[in-house]
Amino acid sequence: MKDLDRFAITEAVLDRIAGTPDPRLKRILESAVRHLHDFAREVELTPEEWLAGIAFVTAVGQACTPRRQEFILLSDVLGLSRLVNVMHDARSRAEGATATSLLGPFFREDAPEVPLGGSLAARPESAGGKEILLFGRVTDAAGAPVPGATMDLWQADAAGRYDLQAEDPATVDMRGRLRCDAEGRYHLRTVKPLGYSVPMGGPVGRLVRQQGRHGHRPAHIHVLVTAPGYQDLVTALYFADDPHIASDTVFGVSDSLIVSERTGLPDSPRPDLPAVRYDFRLSPLAAGTTSGRVGADPSRLAVAAAAQGSPAG
Ligand code: BEZ
Ligand code: FE
Repeated sequence: MKDLDRFAITEAVLDRIAGTPDPRLKRILESAVRHLHDFAREVELTPEEWLAGIAFVTAVGQACTPRRQEFILLSDVLGLSRLVNVMHDARSRAEGATATSLLGPFFREDAPEVPLGGSLAARPESAGGKEILLFGRVTDAAGAPVPGATMDLWQADAAGRYDLQAEDPATVDMRGRLRCDAEGRYHLRTVKPLGYSVPMGGPVGRLVRQQGRHGHRPAHIHVLVTAPGYQDLVTALYFADDPHIASDTVFGVSDSLIVSERTGLPDSPRPDLPAVRYDFRLSPLAAGTTSGRVGADPSRLAVAAAAQGSPAG
């Protein structure tokens, strides 16, 4: 047994995992070990710092519930979620298709159906905000209409809160599922959202504060567009007049996703309302491409985690 100095230990681990049968898993593990060891060497990680890191990751796990995914939040504030999106877009987004953005932790699979022209505001208190219209088309990357697309929309209300943050967990508000018409057209009413802070009460919030950063996201409306034969489009529209438009704490904003509401847009179905016109352009679902969703409904993730078995196993 040779002495394992600060470099030999890396080679020893790589030798040990060389027999991993799944080639993709092998590649990921080898790279992770190399980078992890390089990182520890670069910062001269001490035993106390190593333990503090273990305590931090433990606290992140303990903060996860079926309603909260602290690990995804960690990935978001470190820019990893955005990086995974950017790389996915580079691999599989058709030229001209809409950019993706983060799904975030407030997506739910079971949004209520909203008719064309209907409103996302289900509660009278939400309806008190500034009413706006969102309209446009779902098309392919070249601009040809995609008939029968489905849009899921969810957003914070005019006070910057999601329904899932309401006292009553059964509250459903400011979210809905819309079916576009045969020419891919859609229009709906909603309330202009306010920007908000990501959950800052856990270990990730502490880490953000330790860096002297704020935890704000600029005002936005999340959109998931699905249609047969096309990749799921997970994106969001960001309002230009938000003070944090250039400093989103989770790096979700792209220039092409920034919008402003305007009156007097030529083909608005509701000329009486300030409106945002946005066309969503989908990429074809090529063989071997994945849906491209970054993130998931946290309650589904909790079920998937439980299915991996308990530590006693
Ligand atoms: C959101 O936009 O809903 C969100 C995204 C990342 C972290 C927290 C919230
Ligand atoms: Fe959001």
